[in-house]
Amino acid sequence: MNAEDIAGIREEALREAAEITDIAALEAFRIKYAGRKGVLQDLMQNLKTADPADRPVLGKVINEVKRDLLALLDERKKAFESAAQAQVAAFDITLPGQWPRPGSRHPISQIIERVVDIFHSLGFTVAEGPDIETVYHNFDALNTPPHHPSRDPQDTFYLDNGDLLRCHTSPVQVRYMEAHEPPVRIVVPGRCYRRDTPDATHSANFHQIEGLYVDRKVSLADLKGDLSHFARELMGPDVKVRFRPHFFPFTEPSVEVDFTCHVCGGKGCRVCKQSGWIEIAGAGMVDPNVFKAVGYDRHQVVGYAFGMGIERIAMILYGIHDIRHLYENDVRFLQQF
Ligand code: PHE
Repeated sequence: MNAEDIAGIREEALREAAEITDIAALEAFRIKYAGRKGVLQDLMQNLKTADPADRPVLGKVINEVKRDLLALLDERKKAFESAAQAQVAAFDITLPGQWPRPGSRHPISQIIERVVDIFHSLGFTVAEGPDIETVYHNFDALNTPPHHPSRDPQDTFYLDNGDLLRCHTSPVQVRYMEAHEPPVRIVVPGRCYRRDTPDATHSANFHQIEGLYVDRKVSLADLKGDLSHFARELMGPDVKVRFRPHFFPFTEPSVEVDFTCHVCGGKGCRVCKQSGWIEIAGAGMVDPNVFKAVGYDRHQVVGYAFGMGIERIAMILYGIHDIRHLYENDVRFLQQF
C-alpha cells in the first residue's frame, strides 16, 4: 500500500459524496467510509503491508482523509436539515385541511333498500336470479305465447347461444318456485335489460323489484292491501292506490297499479299529466299455467305477483327528471343523496 492508493480512495469518496441528495444516503456513506468496518478502517489494517519506514506518514494521511470526510458529512447534513426546515416553514398550518370525500349509497341502492325493508316487515324475504336467462325462464314458463312482441329481438337482447338478458325480474318467480315448495313470499330486486332507445324516461338497463306471494288462500284483496300499505310506508299516509285492468301473460287477472301523484296529491298537475295518478307497477294473480310449469298443484295454491321499476320510484321520490342522471355517476348529482 502506498500514498497513491489512499489518494485514489479519497478522490472516489469525494465523488460519491457529491452525488448524495438526502440524509439517509449521507448516513450510508458515513458507515461505508468511516464506520467500524469501513474503508478507512480497512486501510489502517493494511498499513502492515506498507514499508515500515512509510507507516507513520501513511497513517497520518489516512487520519486526515477521515477528518476531511467527516467534516464534509457534517456540512452536508446541516445543509439538508436547514432545507427541510425551510420546506416545513413553507406550509401554512392555519389553512383548513382537505378531507377525503366519503362515498355514499347510490340512489338506486337506497330505494331498493327501502322497498325491501317495507316488504320485510310483511314477512317477505329477498331472492335473486341471474341477469343472463334462458328463453324458457324469461318467457315460456311465464306463459308467454310464441309470437308475443316482447320476444322480438327488437325488444330483447339475445346472446349468440340463444340465451338472453332478462327483460324483467319475473323469471326469478319461476326459478324460486322450481326450487322451493309453497308457501312463498319473496321480493326480487335486480337489473333488467330492454332494447330501448335511451331518453329521459328510458334506459336499456334498469332495475325492477318483483314480488311473489303464494299460499293456499291469497286474493286480489291481499295484493291491494299489501301494495296500499307499501304505498303509505314509501310515500306517506295519504297516498291512495288504484288498480286498472291490464294484461300480462303470467297473471290472470292482471292490473296496472297507480299511486296518487305525490306532487299534487291527486288534484292533477304537470307531473301526472293532470290525471292525479302515477303508474307504479304491473301485477296480478299468478296464472295457473305458471304454477303448472314449476310443478305446483294449481288446485292447491294461489298467489299474487307484482313488478315495479326502481328508477321510476327514485325519480318520483327524489324529483329527478331524467333517468340518465342515475347512470352518469356525476358526483355533483350523487352527492345530493
Ligand atoms: N314483469 C312485468 C313487467 O316487466 C311486471 C309484472 C310482474 C306484472 C309481476 C305482473 C306480475 O312489466
